[in-house]
Amino acid sequence: LGYVLLPPFLQRQSWVYRQMRAAGLKPGALSPQVLLTHLARVYGNIFSFFIGHHQVVVLSDFHTVREALVQQAEVFSDRPRLPLVSLITKEKGIVFAHYGPVWRQQRKFSHATLRHFGLGKLSLEPKIIEEFNYVKEEMQEHGGAPFNPFPIVNNAISNIICSLCLGQRFDYTNSEFKKMLHFMSRGLEISLNSQVLLVNICSWLYYLPFGPFKELRQIEKDITTFLKKIIKDHRESLDGEHPQDFIDMYLLHMEEEKKNNSKSSFNEDYLFYILGDLFIAGTDTTTNSLLWCLLYMALHPDVQEKVHEEIQRVIGRDRAPSLTDKVQMPYTEATIMEVQRLTVVVPLSIPHMTSEETVLQGYAIPKGTVVVPNLWAIHRDPAIWEKPEDFCPSRFLDDQGQLIKKEIFIPFGIGKRVCMGEQLAKMELFLMFVSLMQSFTFSLPEDSKQPILTGRFGLTLAPHPFNIIASKR
Ligand code: HEM
Repeated sequence: LGYVLLPPFLQRQSWVYRQMRAAGLKPGALSPQVLLTHLARVYGNIFSFFIGHHQVVVLSDFHTVREALVQQAEVFSDRPRLPLVSLITKEKGIVFAHYGPVWRQQRKFSHATLRHFGLGKLSLEPKIIEEFNYVKEEMQEHGGAPFNPFPIVNNAISNIICSLCLGQRFDYTNSEFKKMLHFMSRGLEISLNSQVLLVNICSWLYYLPFGPFKELRQIEKDITTFLKKIIKDHRESLDGEHPQDFIDMYLLHMEEEKKNNSKSSFNEDYLFYILGDLFIAGTDTTTNSLLWCLLYMALHPDVQEKVHEEIQRVIGRDRAPSLTDKVQMPYTEATIMEVQRLTVVVPLSIPHMTSEETVLQGYAIPKGTVVVPNLWAIHRDPAIWEKPEDFCPSRFLDDQGQLIKKEIFIPFGIGKRVCMGEQLAKMELFLMFVSLMQSFTFSLPEDSKQPILTGRFGLTLAPHPFNIIASKR
């Protein structure tokens, strides 16, 4: 059954439970990343357990993760074949696709196409700045009253993916778009935190005509209708000379491939799953990172003041921020990195799977083992980070106040499966954070309780809902 599934009275007899109590932790209330990190302190940086008949190996320090994902990349880069994931993604797209030639072709094309539309480059800047001008307007409307920043930030970040992929942005009041965003987060929530998880043990449960099973199938249907209609509209208005967005480029590439290779993996069905991946991988992660930044600023006015000073000195009040400012703004960059280190928004990465038997640091690991790189543990490893629980941006700065790039700082993962949107996320985070900090000072309402900083675990680590005050500077 495993420790987690044991009834509480048996859990309390276990050695793990007693060890954790002795360390002052309440095992029942722990998020998975905290529980696994603690187990690593007890059992070592490589330990394993079973979920049903799947063996899971957890890697909890930088050197072990690097040895697996970089030095033995050919063995450790597959994804597990979880029935629920297979039912939803049909094993297509990028995130959950199997390691092999099809994944490689699709990832290479998608990455190159996003770069073509400005990912990591100055040409994308105006779109991001324009989107954040809407955010600032919305925030200003609250006029110093507390508000929940989640919906505004989430809409803006989704709109950047929409501009790149669909060639359009949606107004924040567009009800169809709002519905789609809600469906995506609800779909993820049901898949991770409901009886739907049982589909991994018994796949026919997915077709049950009631409860979360029915709701998930309906969500899948609605998202499919929304995206397929957009793909159809693109096909009908496609101008081969002037592709406007990711979908246009994909459709053109598909036609080209068809001429030379009848077995090409490029088809509309695949395109559909890639779009879904870009939305899911690119929205929640960046939204939560930015929300964490705002929350940490409100909690640390001294750090916020230093960021304000740097913005004032390098950019001033009126000019829009640019990526070219980054080199002159080490403190701001160190602040974003420190928030990312403490909050690791993809704390357990995305699970990997071994594609053949291997040996890792003396341990035999069978083919088909699920491998979890515990990024959360790496970023709080007391052997590497001094006072790892403290919020201290200057740990990323040298004596001259210049930024130190640390090899062990890997919130985007490492190896062949490293985040495909890393450059986009970094540029979004810098431009958006600076743009908001240029206009506002963030604080928490006086009557608010001390926010809980452990986060809510889903596929990403989200802050617990909070209200914030944005005072115009
Ligand atoms: C702060 C924001 C982000 C963080 C912290 C983050 C982090 C990660 C991590 C840890 C992984 C798993 C790496 C592994 O499996 O070893 C990943 C995968 C991925 N991310 Fe991100 N990500 C972010 C934003 C984005 C954005 C904006 C996009 C989209 C444009 C994106 C697209 C992807 C894709 C497609 C994968 C799967 C790569 C593959 O399996 O080959 N991510 N990300």
